[in-house]
Amino acid sequence: MNVAVIGSGGREHALCFKLSLSKKISKLFCIPGNPGTDSICENIEIDPLNFDLLYSVLLKKNISTVIVGPEIPLVKGIVDFLSEKNIFTFGPSKEASQLEGSKDFMKKLCKDFNIPTAEYESFDNLLKAQDFIKKSKHPLVIKSDGLAAGKGVTISNNVEESTKCAKEILEGKFKTSSKVVIEEFLEGEEASYFVITDGENYLPIGTAQDHKRIGENDTGLNTGGMGAYSPSLLITNDMQEKINKKIIEPTIKSLNTIGCSFVGILYAGLMIKNNEPKLIEYNIRFGDPECQVIMMRLENDLLDLILSVKNKNLDDQKIFWKKDPCITVVASAKGYPEEYQTKTHIKNLENIENNFTQQLFHAGTIEVDKKILANGGRVLNATAVASSLQEARDKAHQMLDLVDWEDKYFRRDIAWRAIR
Ligand code: AMP
Ligand code: GLY
Repeated sequence: MNVAVIGSGGREHALCFKLSLSKKISKLFCIPGNPGTDSICENIEIDPLNFDLLYSVLLKKNISTVIVGPEIPLVKGIVDFLSEKNIFTFGPSKEASQLEGSKDFMKKLCKDFNIPTAEYESFDNLLKAQDFIKKSKHPLVIKSDGLAAGKGVTISNNVEESTKCAKEILEGKFKTSSKVVIEEFLEGEEASYFVITDGENYLPIGTAQDHKRIGENDTGLNTGGMGAYSPSLLITNDMQEKINKKIIEPTIKSLNTIGCSFVGILYAGLMIKNNEPKLIEYNIRFGDPECQVIMMRLENDLLDLILSVKNKNLDDQKIFWKKDPCITVVASAKGYPEEYQTKTHIKNLENIENNFTQQLFHAGTIEVDKKILANGGRVLNATAVASSLQEARDKAHQMLDLVDWEDKYFRRDIAWRAIR
């Protein structure tokens, strides 16, 4: 069977790495991929958002199964488009993708079906939003309704800041949003929880802890994620049971009730306090960089799990994990997530060993004239499994220390709470 992964980041490199081990795949493609995926499968350098072009390429290459990494193609309806043409595409429909594509949709679902989350109101009118802000206790969390590449959330400490944020969102700062969502600020510790679901049944497929801030000790601006580790120590068996019963099961059920069944990877971003989980957000795909640590620990054939979603026999599957923890440390260009340079030269990658316990995933690189150049904010993900998190982190640092790249920045404290 020929299979294609859609996307070009570290998450997609990790998915390709895992799928490249499947004996069921005759040929693996990544669309458009990056220099890392190029070394393990065939990249097809087209824009996957051009669905007509994508379809013609899938036909030409005889690709029958498509696995979608990022959220944008899902929100734009890639699954509906390709499924109609009889290409099995793993991920949620356009309608179910609103769970990530519209915070208002997700919050309303939680409210209507009693899924624990922060209190909220949403507005398309500034005067009403202002009125609500004035009456609310701060800190408040101000969010754009639509996708905003991780930049749509502000935790605000006063009325002026909240009003300014709400005004910017309503005036179209994020083109995807005509609404602002204003939420109660939740305290606690965050964790990421993943399930794979066929719309009726589900299986937990990993837990992780992401470090979103740019600076050590979790300080500075929010990013897409500067590192992660798995499993999350916060998600004990008891906690997992609570999350399943209070959040995951009601979500799958309520989506069926409103007629938009969810199929694919459901990623719950959680806040845990006093042993109780609350949902911060839903994503409709694997996290990046959480996917990198999950793929390194997963023992199953990933394609088998995905095909059991297609064949609706997920219930017959059991997921197996390496018992050792895994960590990924993200190397970014200096200056990220603000202004940063691209096309800087990254050297010595050929001297870094990649095997079953360590992988240097490419996240934002490009090959030009046989040289690897940085091509984004988050550039490399040093990912390592070891008998302890400390050891895994040391291995990840050793990999990044070997990378000869002047513009390299990474945090040396990923997993600090767990290691302490
Ligand atoms: P989101 O894009 O909704 O995941 O939000 C990004 C980050 O903002 C989350 O990972 C949290 O750290 C923070 N955040 C979002 N909503 C809340 C909330 N209601 N209370 C506290 N922190 C939040
Ligand atoms: N690491 C956070 C995300 O993938 O949304």
